[in-house]
Amino acid sequence: MNVGVLVSGTGTNLQALLDAQARGELAPAVIAAVISNRPGVPALERAARAGVPAAVVEHRGLSREAFEDRLLAALAAHGVLPPADAPPTSAPAAGAPAAEPPAGGAVVLAGFMRVLTPHFVDRFPLRIVNTHPSILPAFPGVDAPAQALAHGVKLTGVTVHFVDATLDGGPIIAQVAVPIEPGDDVGSLRARIQREEHRLLPRVVQRLAAGQLSCQGRHVTEARAE
Ligand code: GRF
Repeated sequence: MNVGVLVSGTGTNLQALLDAQARGELAPAVIAAVISNRPGVPALERAARAGVPAAVVEHRGLSREAFEDRLLAALAAHGVLPPADAPPTSAPAAGAPAAEPPAGGAVVLAGFMRVLTPHFVDRFPLRIVNTHPSILPAFPGVDAPAQALAHGVKLTGVTVHFVDATLDGGPIIAQVAVPIEPGDDVGSLRARIQREEHRLLPRVVQRLAAGQLSCQGRHVTEARAE
């Protein structure tokens, strides 16, 4: 399954995906494109070093819809097609295991700092995932580690979820708790959270591409590996 990764900055989560791919742990997901809404960010260098096609689609000066149309075009140009536009995969023979990944591509938001509207999101239903550095629904939006510290919680963590048109509000796929230690500051807490998300995000992307995530309402279930 072709996967487009949308980024805006440092790209450590992108790096975790690229490293998982290099180790052979991401298949059947294939990172087909990295698209940044900001030029010159380190995430683009990470893509280049890994030999993955990268593009910049700037949002400045564009309506949200026009920006999203350009994102969709850039993804399609790299073979990341919405499920409805993708050629159908052949049905497995009777009695054979469902070996083929689902038709169409997927999109990973890896530190992508734009809210996507239904214009984009509705093209990839249950095919867009985001990683967020808190245990949602606590602390949505920006600066989640700082929000957690300011609130005085003892545990925070990471959430990987499907993206809908709400801010960090789509169905939750997986979460890992991270304790807040005495003396933590935003930097130390963020680093501890990121260690977990770098493990969790590639695993979720692999499961999504393998067709092993299903969602009913808000409830996501993961098929067990055979
Ligand atoms: C991550 O902590 C992610 O949870 C949040 O933005 C940050 C991006 O970091 N959505 P990076 O660009 O992947 O290093």
